[in-house]
Amino acid sequence: MDFLLFLLLVATASCLQTKDLPIRFDNFQVYHVIPRTSQQLEILKRLQENPQGFNFWNEVAVTGRKVDIMVPPHLKYNFRDLVQEFDAELWIENVQQLLDNEGSQVDSKPDDFHWTDYHTLESIYAWMDSLARKYPDIVTPLVGGRSYEGREIRGVKLSFGTGKKGIFMEGGIHAREWISPATVTYMLNELLSSDNATVRAVAESRDWYFFPSVNPDGYVYTITNRMWRKTRKPYGLCVGADPNRNWNYRWMNGGASQNRCSEIFAGDAPFSEPETKSLSEFINSVSDTLDIYLAFHSYSQLLLIPFGHQGREIPKNNDELHRIGRAAADSLRVRYGTEFKVGNIPNMLPSLSSGGSIDWVLGEHRNIRIVYAYELRDTGRYGFILPPEQIIPSGEETLDSLVRLIHEVDSS
Ligand SMILES: *[C@@H]1O[C@H](CO)[C@@H](O)[C@H](O)[C@H]1NC(C)=O
Ligand SMILES: [Zn+2]
Repeated sequence: MDFLLFLLLVATASCLQTKDLPIRFDNFQVYHVIPRTSQQLEILKRLQENPQGFNFWNEVAVTGRKVDIMVPPHLKYNFRDLVQEFDAELWIENVQQLLDNEGSQVDSKPDDFHWTDYHTLESIYAWMDSLARKYPDIVTPLVGGRSYEGREIRGVKLSFGTGKKGIFMEGGIHAREWISPATVTYMLNELLSSDNATVRAVAESRDWYFFPSVNPDGYVYTITNRMWRKTRKPYGLCVGADPNRNWNYRWMNGGASQNRCSEIFAGDAPFSEPETKSLSEFINSVSDTLDIYLAFHSYSQLLLIPFGHQGREIPKNNDELHRIGRAAADSLRVRYGTEFKVGNIPNMLPSLSSGGSIDWVLGEHRNIRIVYAYELRDTGRYGFILPPEQIIPSGEETLDSLVRLIHEVDSS
């Protein structure tokens, strides 16, 4: 049988079988591979475009830059042959073991909501509702849009008084980046309840729009397939578009794909995904009051500055964004020594990425001038499967950087 056809059948069979049961990753391995020649780079790029069962945890960019690739057990020998001549290191022996240690998403009652586990979407939403009951003068529940499967994209607004500038906190656009909603909810909780005077002052200096999980279908689906990244809208044989390649600013202009099965499939058109379309409309409705927009991703420990498209567009306030970003990264490092690199997207990943939310926000809203995407912990030891013991440290250090960032914005 044709090898490709065989793989397709295996993939289809496993999808049908395990619709509800979590897909297991027994003996799936993760390799760190560094392409050293342009020929090796080309091989990896072709494989990423048509991954045939391999799962790329980050993007093939340039020679010398590490790529983390997850290899299913039935392709173990094929992969070993393929990278024989490569600078490749087996990094994770058994992905399932990491998943067992991580635990799945936990359901907690609002009173028991905590940051030593990852939570289900339902628990996060119930907890946000409980905040609105507990702090009725400060917290307003919001619906920022709707998903393909009809779920609400829910958030909260925190407002300690009228006439403040606004900041938008976007989490979870990529489903498998669980540390993103966890870190965003951690910061939300601290801004509401911390008695640290510095945190209180920063909290009260702004109106806050918190949306911890803007790809709710994807996040729910990661209970079944922990490695899911995209939305859940069907596209022929494949499912989902990359919601962070789907925003209507220089759409499909580098670092995105029109292959419907690709992990970075940009959708059939800009805003083809109900999630990005409806959320962008919500953002437009409040954008006049915003001056800061932050998106939270994982992993790589980067603070990314637009633009990611290939038009070589540079933010008008690029120097300011670098200066503030470096200050934020300095403050992030203090508590646990965690190093974040700061720079424009094409120099950092370093690869292009068009149709991302931060490009659209900065490109289309000239008054929102402070725009970053955080790539949270780690740098590839655990990748997306960051142990839940790291949620609180990640939340603490990211909040430290946020406090500094706002101080810098308000003093410049
Ligand atoms: C208060 O919060 C700031 C910012 O996160 C932090 O740098 C500082 O150490 C905290 N102060 C105390 C006493 O914990
Ligand atoms: Zn991401």
